[in-house]
Amino acid sequence: MANASKKLFIKTWGCQMNVYDSNRMSDILSALGYKTVDTPEGADMMILNTCHIREKATDKVFSELGRLRVHKEEKIAKGGNMVIAVAGCVAQAEGEFILERAPYVDMVFGPQTYHELPEMVIKASNNERVINTEFPIISKFDHLPDQHTIEGSAAYLSIQEGCDKFCTFCVVPYTRGGEYSRTAQEIIDEAHRLVDQGAKEIMLLGQNVNAFHGVASDGSIWGLAELIRNISEINGLERIRYSTSHPRDMDDDLIDVHGEVQKLMPFLHLPVQSGSDKILEAMNRKHKAEKYLDVIAKLRKARSDIAFSSDYIIGFPGETEQDFEDSLNLARKVGYASCYSFKYSARPGTPAANLQAALVPDHIASERLKRFQALINEQQAAFNKTCEGKTMPILFDRKGKKQGQVCGRSPYSQSVYVTGNDRLIGNIIDVKITEAFDNSLTGDVVTQDDLL
Ligand code: 5AD
Ligand code: SF4
Repeated sequence: MANASKKLFIKTWGCQMNVYDSNRMSDILSALGYKTVDTPEGADMMILNTCHIREKATDKVFSELGRLRVHKEEKIAKGGNMVIAVAGCVAQAEGEFILERAPYVDMVFGPQTYHELPEMVIKASNNERVINTEFPIISKFDHLPDQHTIEGSAAYLSIQEGCDKFCTFCVVPYTRGGEYSRTAQEIIDEAHRLVDQGAKEIMLLGQNVNAFHGVASDGSIWGLAELIRNISEINGLERIRYSTSHPRDMDDDLIDVHGEVQKLMPFLHLPVQSGSDKILEAMNRKHKAEKYLDVIAKLRKARSDIAFSSDYIIGFPGETEQDFEDSLNLARKVGYASCYSFKYSARPGTPAANLQAALVPDHIASERLKRFQALINEQQAAFNKTCEGKTMPILFDRKGKKQGQVCGRSPYSQSVYVTGNDRLIGNIIDVKITEAFDNSLTGDVVTQDDLL
């Protein structure tokens, strides 16, 4: 029986896909009487939704589990109990190991199994330890309840999962499985529901989102371009974004859409990982740096105000000073609005983890990362500076840090702070940018006296 007083605490690491999944888990478990709370104190169930991409992921999970164990023991001492669960990519990859090393963990389950949560929770409540890291044949998308993530009028919509690219450093193809696209109709229906619930912006999500190829009602296959054209026709929807893309899947049709669809925001996250063709080959990226620049140039031609962000891995095995400088040069040629960079770290089970001999010494990789980040910080500050004096439409989605301040997102996903009433939240309003900082902008609302 559902017990409305049960508390659920979910700690989420990693990508937006994980944030989306955590919200989904929270929806599913609410049907079993679990209310999601913001702190672990007194929780009846704790889920760690883990991410394998970041460095030392497994170690971080174990140290967090150590802390949760204390909460569990306190609860048991008072005659209660607590279910501890590990979900996400680390669970998928290291499930058996976690159960073995952490006897107080009750459930481990991978990203493809969330729709089986009610069954798993019942087992765990009967003191049965649960491990569920199989890839089921039926997709989890078909089983999840129709609830969504909307925060401040910006919503996430998952359109594909998994990846078939097998970049040699990456665990996603092993932990999330092969590429799978939802049907076009399911996505369109969900987009309509999100807009009905107040979404003004939709971010289409997937690990390799531009590999999307969903079956349409007439049996034809839609690529991401066709999907965006259709979604853009929804009245009330003002902004569309998508992430994360692979340069190889940026076909001409998708590039054209950036010119055609004004609702598609002029900001694209397009990870390249390295500027050296030799390293790109060792990473199995299957394209050269020149091809990436080509795609960037075509996108700029299609939409002149577009800006870019990217991911770079620094210190991949075999990276020489020259290879690293090729990465710096590529970043210089593109000129990013923002960019993530990661020091390479070996992920067990990936092909690159066998390249021990060619490992770049840690102090060299760290020093290169610093140089790369210095360049990116410069580029980001320069890009922000170009916004000063411009008027930009801002989607207000949250209160600012200071009293009387509200914060929103520019078309380029920059945080923009203005002085104004909370009633701005949920609206897209023109703001004249007055000052640019390294990581944010400030400005003045241009009109809308009634909302001030
Ligand atoms: N080492 C360092 N960075 C990695 N990423 C993925 N795997 C690794 C790894 N083994 C980075 C990539 C990817 C981003 C999400 O994380 O740049 O695009
Ligand atoms: Fe991983 Fe992205 Fe490469 Fe797929 S395309 S294997 S998700 S880095």
